Amino acid sequence: MIFLLSALLVSFIFMFGLRRKNPYPPGPKGYPIIGNMTMMDQLTHRGLAQLSSRYGRAGLLHLTMGKLHIVAVSTPEMAREVLLAQDSVYANRPANDAIVYLTYDRADMAFANYGPFWRQMRKICVMKVFSRKRAESWASVREEVDSTVATVMKSVGQPLNVGELVFALTRNITYRAAFGSFSRDGQDEFVLILQEFSKLFGAFNIADFFPWLGWIHGTEFRKRLAKARASLDGFIDHIIDEHLETREKRNSDRAEKNQGLYEDDMVDELMAFYGENASKGDFNDSSNSSIQLTKDNIKAIIMDVMFGGTETVASAIEWAMAELMNSPAELKKVQQELSDTVGLDRVVQESDLDKLTYLRCAIKETLRLHPPIPLLLHETAADSVLGGYHVPARSRIMINAWAIGRDPSSWEDADVFKPSRFLDGGAPDFKGSNFEFIPFGSGRRSCPGMQLGLYGLELSVAHLLHCFNWELPDGMQPSELDMNDSFGLTAPRATRLVAVPSYRLSCPVPGK
Ligand code: HEM
Ligand SMILES: *[C@@H]1O[C@H](CO)[C@@H](O)[C@H](O)[C@H]1NC(C)=O
Ligand SMILES: *[C@@H]1O[C@H](CO)[C@@H](O)[C@H](O)[C@H]1NC(C)=O
Ligand SMILES: *[C@@H]1O[C@H](CO)[C@@H](O)[C@H](O)[C@H]1NC(C)=O
Ligand SMILES: *[C@@H]1O[C@H](CO)[C@@H](O)[C@H](O)[C@H]1NC(C)=O
Ligand SMILES: *[C@@H]1O[C@H](CO)[C@@H](O)[C@H](O)[C@H]1NC(C)=O
Ligand SMILES: *[C@@H]1O[C@H](CO)[C@@H](O)[C@H](O)[C@H]1NC(C)=O
Repeated sequence: MIFLLSALLVSFIFMFGLRRKNPYPPGPKGYPIIGNMTMMDQLTHRGLAQLSSRYGRAGLLHLTMGKLHIVAVSTPEMAREVLLAQDSVYANRPANDAIVYLTYDRADMAFANYGPFWRQMRKICVMKVFSRKRAESWASVREEVDSTVATVMKSVGQPLNVGELVFALTRNITYRAAFGSFSRDGQDEFVLILQEFSKLFGAFNIADFFPWLGWIHGTEFRKRLAKARASLDGFIDHIIDEHLETREKRNSDRAEKNQGLYEDDMVDELMAFYGENASKGDFNDSSNSSIQLTKDNIKAIIMDVMFGGTETVASAIEWAMAELMNSPAELKKVQQELSDTVGLDRVVQESDLDKLTYLRCAIKETLRLHPPIPLLLHETAADSVLGGYHVPARSRIMINAWAIGRDPSSWEDADVFKPSRFLDGGAPDFKGSNFEFIPFGSGRRSCPGMQLGLYGLELSVAHLLHCFNWELPDGMQPSELDMNDSFGLTAPRATRLVAVPSYRLSCPVPGK
């Protein structure tokens, strides 16, 4: 009996001791329960970078919000720890009530927690949806970029809202890659649905931090959620039905298919896995039964593509244009390279991209200074020890890709736009093994759309700079350009870039 009691006591001391030995990472001490609620507006890439430089020894910053633990990561060393060394514990995704509802109970890839379901979804997406072998996606990029050049042509000599133009461009690219060319009429409606989703995703959900106060956001919010999801349901159900119909028609008419009259889109690729009786529980690594997707899975993946591939690419194109206009000497170098390698008598083609070294450097430098997704959001699956500190299970991990890309101990003149730093063969690359440069993340959860996104980004910037010269409107000086960013799902420019194009090539306008 006494033995038992002392064993209990020892184990208590042991547990207590463990806690003591590993304190939480450093951070400001807030009131108990309320925590540093006043810092809500500081939970942005800039706010967290500031707090980290004040409190975050060892690249880690700890905050509590109600019951939630938040750990911000702001150095390459700690990013490596989280994304590589301990990645299986750090590969879950946080989600609030709104996100769970809007993603059909995490039936997608981006918000699914790490596990067999996510692995299977990722496999399908990487092999079928984002693969370079799906040439149609790449064709969508080319066609929409060409049509954008034609649009710019109409504005030669007049101020043009470049920001809005490139957002329309990337929306058109993803829409076409996802749904093909035959459902074009629904596009305006779909854009509105996505905008509402974007707002709802971002809406501060107080129940996240204080579960017992869940009633506060009340029925109004729930109604909006339900309405948004119902309109997405209606929209995509219609598209899926249309695809089912044409698929049957296609199968019965192979001749037409062979003539290339149909172009497979992403929904077609996903429909190949469609099973009426599929369920999430069927996903299992050790069984080889063929994977089946439900309608909800397909809807949710399409949503991932629209959210993951539209704002990110648009924000990067706009920032690249803005940084280059802000540094006329760099702009000149990029355009000189275009004249030298491509020549003014024709437009840029895909095969030129590999030769445009300085353009590639400018794009990398843009992604370093303005990673489109500045904070990578992960969640821990279990208690863990990070850099000697205790990180509890279900903590929200915010990897500050923006702060890491501007870390003065990794980058010389960290805040200066200097593409030439990437001319050095030893410069970090964004493929994921250099943790001082992670615009696409790294490891298990890294961006599966990287190749496609880069293609859209490089091709757009190359065309816009090769076909046109750009001036700021009303005699504005490059140094007067507002370079502030804003914060949401992505970090686009705070004000849209407006510039005046003039035609630069000696050949006639392409497509005319
Ligand atoms: C310049 C363009 C892009 C950038 C900078 C970018 C960046 C990122 C980043 C930072 C992540 C999160 C990594 C993490 O949490 O650790 C991510 C995830 C993701 N991206 Fe991208 N992305 C881009 C383009 C695209 C495109 C074009 C698509 C789709 C067509 C896409 C689809 C996704 C998806 C589905 C995920 C979630 C993956 C998962 O959770 O397993 N992205 N991206
Ligand atoms: C965090 O909260 C405490 C107490 O409310 C406050 O004294 C402190 O200034 C806050 N920290 C920041 C950075 O706002
Ligand atoms: C996007 O598509 C719409 C609808 O087809 C078209 O009116 C618009 O000009 C396109 N925008 C760009 C930038 O290509
Ligand atoms: C789906 O399940 C229902 C009822 O369990 C069954 O009648 C039907 O045949 C199943 N469909 C398929 C395609 O397996
Ligand atoms: C996975 O599937 C196999 C074979 O169908 C089954 O034996 C196993 O229990 C399943 N595992 C889980 C975790 O569901
Ligand atoms: C599943 O397939 C792999 C190879 O395709 C094979 O090695 C493995 O034994 C199979 N597992 C089961 C449970 O059939
Ligand atoms: C950028 O933002 C800062 C702080 O919000 C503001 O003071 C400044 O005027 C902005 N810059 C421009 C050019 O608008």
